[in-house]
Amino acid sequence: MTLSLALARRPLQGRVSLPGDKSLAHRAALFAALADGVSTIRNYPDSGVTRAMRAALEALGVPSRLADGALRVDGNGMRPFPKSGATAFCGNSGTTIRLLAGAVAATRSAAVLDGSAGLRKRPMNRIADPLRLMGADVTTADGHAPLALAPAPLHGIDYTLPVASAQVKSCIELAALGADAPVTLHEPGPSRDHTARMLRAMGATVISAGLTETVHPATSLKPLDGTLPGDISSAAFLLAAAAIVPGSRVTVADVGLNPTRTGVLDVLSAMGARISTVNERDEFGEPVGDVTLEAAPLHGVEIAGDLVVRSIDEFPALAVVASFAAGETVVREAEELRYKETDRIAAIVAQLGALGAEVEERPDGFTVRGGTLKGGTARANGDHRLAMSMALCGLRAPVSVEGAEILNESFPEFESLLSSLM
Ligand code: S3P
Repeated sequence: MTLSLALARRPLQGRVSLPGDKSLAHRAALFAALADGVSTIRNYPDSGVTRAMRAALEALGVPSRLADGALRVDGNGMRPFPKSGATAFCGNSGTTIRLLAGAVAATRSAAVLDGSAGLRKRPMNRIADPLRLMGADVTTADGHAPLALAPAPLHGIDYTLPVASAQVKSCIELAALGADAPVTLHEPGPSRDHTARMLRAMGATVISAGLTETVHPATSLKPLDGTLPGDISSAAFLLAAAAIVPGSRVTVADVGLNPTRTGVLDVLSAMGARISTVNERDEFGEPVGDVTLEAAPLHGVEIAGDLVVRSIDEFPALAVVASFAAGETVVREAEELRYKETDRIAAIVAQLGALGAEVEERPDGFTVRGGTLKGGTARANGDHRLAMSMALCGLRAPVSVEGAEILNESFPEFESLLSSLM
């Protein structure tokens, strides 16, 4: 599919609510499968990657039902999966394969975890190494999927993650539930802490102190009953759209505001956009609120350090905003972007470059010179976030995005919600 958004002839205006956060949705479905009892999870997003997690769980013998936006899962407890030994296909979803590996190890199940050609290219030793340190029996295809896991007793470890990665942290947190002693993890940066919060809500003992977390073994988890906050990573596209169309004022209601995810709001506001948050409250152990962005003159910024971790999925959208800001935006210390759905540093530079923007690639990031983008044809490269970000350039210049159907992996409502604001 080729996607060309209409040029924005007037400011974007309005208020929207979004489908639930994908990171939370993956965890809720998987943890519900490990709980004792029936879980109900409302505002459950229905997209390619959330279907991948549900299908993988079904392959292992824990089906779920999605009706009227509510997911119901009849948990199997912390026991081997009913179809232990099965092959579970994880589609394009890194969160599915990495978190599921931890759950398979914790429950002393056997499984082969595989995925799409794209998923097979992503690094898996980052989970296989610490799982093996715990005693897990894991084999990889030269550090990649398919992963084969066999039942083995797990031990407590004290482990320092080489990269700040919530998928790695969560895999080991889950495995820790099935170990014979607590597991302590140290990370180099503040990756999202949804797993710790949700496991605590389910009765597990997870102690956090700064960048260190200790997870105690658990024989039983309470089922979940709650409403997922809207996905701030989806909100990022609508807020970026409002930021680049002068005069816009857009509110995204009921969106997740976990501080490990709100880097995008900090960057947009540092660039000059006016952002306010009201109606703050807690849901599902996660902070939630209504975010309003008012467009204002934008200028380039430098993004590095913890801010990279806190906005790790938002660089395609932020690079687009940088293209319409005065001066340069410099992204540093962001090498992790090379290990996403695609090498996002190379892809952002290539695709913004194809639209005429002045961009420069470096090993750990990139630089965008604002005010240089002219329009043209970009390619999604099998990356949902790249597809939506490049499409946003179409609000300001004639742009078509080839391969844009990949956006259905994460945010099928993108075009209709954006149109509702135009
Ligand atoms: C995610 C963690 C991040 C993020 C991904 C979702 C999660 O990946 O990029 O989209 O739900 O834990 P890494 O852990 O590889 O940084």
